Amino acid sequence: MIEKVNLIKESFEKDALNINDMKTLNDIKIQYLGKQGKVTELSKSMKDVANEDKKEFGMLVNSIRTLVTDTLESKRQELELKSLNDKLSNEKIDITLPATNIPSGAPNILEKVVEDMENLFMSMGYDVIEGPEVEEDLYNFELLNLPKGHPARDSQDTFYLEGDKILLRSHTSPVQARVMLEAKGEKPIRMVCPGKTYRRDDDDATHSHQFMQIEGLLIDEKATLSDLKGTFDVAAKHLFGEDCVTRFRPSYYPFTEPSVETDISCFACKGKGCAICKNTGWITISGAGVVNPKVLQMCGYDPKKWHGFAFGFGLERVAMLKYGINDLRAFYLTDLRQNKPFDRKEDK
Ligand code: DAH
Repeated sequence: MIEKVNLIKESFEKDALNINDMKTLNDIKIQYLGKQGKVTELSKSMKDVANEDKKEFGMLVNSIRTLVTDTLESKRQELELKSLNDKLSNEKIDITLPATNIPSGAPNILEKVVEDMENLFMSMGYDVIEGPEVEEDLYNFELLNLPKGHPARDSQDTFYLEGDKILLRSHTSPVQARVMLEAKGEKPIRMVCPGKTYRRDDDDATHSHQFMQIEGLLIDEKATLSDLKGTFDVAAKHLFGEDCVTRFRPSYYPFTEPSVETDISCFACKGKGCAICKNTGWITISGAGVVNPKVLQMCGYDPKKWHGFAFGFGLERVAMLKYGINDLRAFYLTDLRQNKPFDRKEDK
């Protein structure tokens, strides 16, 4: 019997040398420790051993069981470590390889112009205000001296949402009325409001059913047309360069009196005449004027005490002029390649 135990021990020691993978390890484990394994069989044969030898035999079987269990366990750990190391060395990253070029984004030009304008007007003491895009007829028209049936309403082909009361604002001017009413006619106002506006226009290179405007409103006890001219001058020079000259032309808006159309001297030809300024030497930028006393009154400001000026202009137009973009639709395409022409170094 003892000899049998030694033979099993020898054969295990030989077999253990061949363990190079998990499958062999498991096979050998079954061969020795499984239900019909060699060591298990030894334990079962205890009943055939003479009583006086049982103790020694039992100890021998236990020692070989411990040997097999411990050896297989340490082999298992060895194999696991080896497989981990193999995996780590296979997956090693070569950090000296040149990186793939990840394209970086650039701010949308229109957003940049908005931010630029906001910063400029904030530096002159203006607040930046937001107003709702879904607006009431009351603010979009009525309080701006455009009562129902007023012919100037036609020029703002409006999207109505519910009956004739709720609409998509056709300009940012309703924010003027909102801000004045909120201030209850008691304090001066300086605000600009950039935002989206909507008109039932067909989309082409210079028109869109959705476009951006920036509105400006200043109310004070002393505010004149020449203050407006000075403010417009500063903005134009900031946008188009120090040698930019401005002029006013008479115009008509129901909410301003007098009303003007504001022009800048053509930055491309310096006033000589070219394709950009249609050979006039001038480019129209915005509508503006002195706030109509009727509007002041409807919005809670006493026109005998308060005066103001207002202006509103299209931001896409400014961005197109400033950056030489000739199709307005480019601002609203989601194809990132379309942003490539705007992808300028100084924006990064
Ligand atoms: N709201 C006008 C438009 O969309 C632009 C405008 C003209 C705004 C004169 C003003 C203004 O504030 O005073 O055509």
